[in-house]
Amino acid sequence: MNSVNIAILGAGAAGLFCAGSLAGSGKRVMVLDHAAKPGEKIRISGGGRCNFTNLATSYERFLSANPRFSASALAGYSPRDFVALIDRAGIAWHEKTLGQLFCDGSARQIVDLLLERMRGAELRLECGVRGLHHDGSAFVIHSTDGPIRADQVVVATGGRSIPKMGATGVGYEIAQSFGHALIKTRPGLVPLTFAEQDLNLCKPLAGVALPAQTSHGKGKAQTRFSDALLFTHRGLSGPSILQISSFWRPGEEVSVDLAPEADMAALLRGARGQLGRVQVATALGNWLPTRLADSVAAELGFATKRFADLSNRDFDQIAARINAWRLRPVGSEGWRTAEVTVGGVDTKGIDARSMESRLQPGLFFIGEVVDVTGWLGGYNFQWAWASAEAAAKAILRG
Ligand code: FDA
Repeated sequence: MNSVNIAILGAGAAGLFCAGSLAGSGKRVMVLDHAAKPGEKIRISGGGRCNFTNLATSYERFLSANPRFSASALAGYSPRDFVALIDRAGIAWHEKTLGQLFCDGSARQIVDLLLERMRGAELRLECGVRGLHHDGSAFVIHSTDGPIRADQVVVATGGRSIPKMGATGVGYEIAQSFGHALIKTRPGLVPLTFAEQDLNLCKPLAGVALPAQTSHGKGKAQTRFSDALLFTHRGLSGPSILQISSFWRPGEEVSVDLAPEADMAALLRGARGQLGRVQVATALGNWLPTRLADSVAAELGFATKRFADLSNRDFDQIAARINAWRLRPVGSEGWRTAEVTVGGVDTKGIDARSMESRLQPGLFFIGEVVDVTGWLGGYNFQWAWASAEAAAKAILRG
C-alpha cells in the first residue's frame, strides 16, 4: 500500500498552494486529483487572466455562518504576500478595478508557478478519491488507485460548482463521515433567472450593459453592490448580479437601481422645461442606454407621449422603475455556471488558526469546501491561498 506523511486531496488552488508550502520540509507529500490536469479552475478564471487576489481583502468580504472565521487565516497570509510571490516569479500583473489584481498575461502562469513551487511533492492525477477513514494508526484514503495511507490529510476538494470541471461532493462526505456538520450549500456568483413577465422585459434587451446597483435585504442587513449589469436572453447577469446572487435565497426579492448616479425623480421634474417637446423614450435616453430607455417608456405606457404630457405621478413611476426596480428571481443558472459554492463544512468543527478538524486530529479542511465564500473579485483565491498557508504552517509546527 502507498504510504505518505501528508496527502492533499484536490489539486486546485488551495491544494496546490498547500503542497508548495510543505514542499522542501522533508515530509513525503502527495497531491491527488481525479482530473487529468491540475488547477483547471485557475486556468479559466478571470476570463483567462486569473483575478488572483483583492487588495481590499478582509473577513467582511466573505459569507459564512461564522462571519469572523476567516479573519485569522487571512491575517496570516495577505494579498501583499501573494503579490510578493508572483513578483519574485516575474509574473506581470495589474489592478483592474476595486482592488482586483489580474495577470497581464495568462492564468496559466499562476498554475505553472504553483506547480514549480511544489516541486518535490508527488502529484498524482487521474486518481479519484471515494472516501477516507482512520484505522487507529493512520488515515486510509479510498482512491481509484487503491488504498493510500497518510499520517495527515488535507481536504482541498473544492465545492459543487461546475461538475463538468470535476467538482464532486466528496469533501462534504468525508467531513460528515468524521462527524462534521455541513452548512447547506447553494450556488453563488451565478446569473439569476426570472419568470415570464420579467423575462419578457430582459430578453429584447439582451446585450445591453450598464453600471447598476443591486441590493438585497432591508435595514442593517441590506447588502449593496455597484458594478456592471448585463441583460441576457435568460435574465440578468454581470458582476453586480453575480454578487447579489450569493446573498439571494429562493422566494426573496432583489432591487436594481439602473441609474445609481441619478436621482431620477428630481432629474425628471427638473428637465420638464428643457425636454418638454421630446418623446419620453428620447428624454430617458439622457440617462439610460437607448434600448433600455425605449423599453421602460413602452412598459409604462408612455411610448407615444411627449415629456410635457407626463404628470409628477408619472415621473415618480418612471423614477421608481429606474432607481428601484424590484424583481423576484425564480432561480439561478445553478451549479452548471456558478463560480462558487455558498455553504460547506461548518466552521464550528474547524480551528480557525490551523484549519484542523476539532473532531479528528491530523485532518484539515481548506479552500472552497469550507463554509467561507468570497465576494466576486479575487477574494476566493485569496481564501484558497490563506487557508492553505494556515494549514501548512500548522502541519510544519507539528
Ligand atoms: P478547486 O475547485 O480549485 O479544486 C478542487 C480540486 O479537487 C479540483 O481540481 C477537482 O478536480 C478535485 N476533486 C474534486 N473531487 C474530487 C474527487 N472525488 N477525487 C479527486 N479529486 C477531486 N476566484 C477568484 O478569486 N478569482 C477569479 O478570477 C475566479 N474566477 C472564476 C471563474 C470560474 C469560471 C469559476 C468556476 C470560478 C472562479 N473563481 C475565481 C473561484 C475559484 O476558482 C475557486 O474559489 C477556487 O478554485 C477554489 O479553490 P479550491 O482549491 O478550494 O477548489
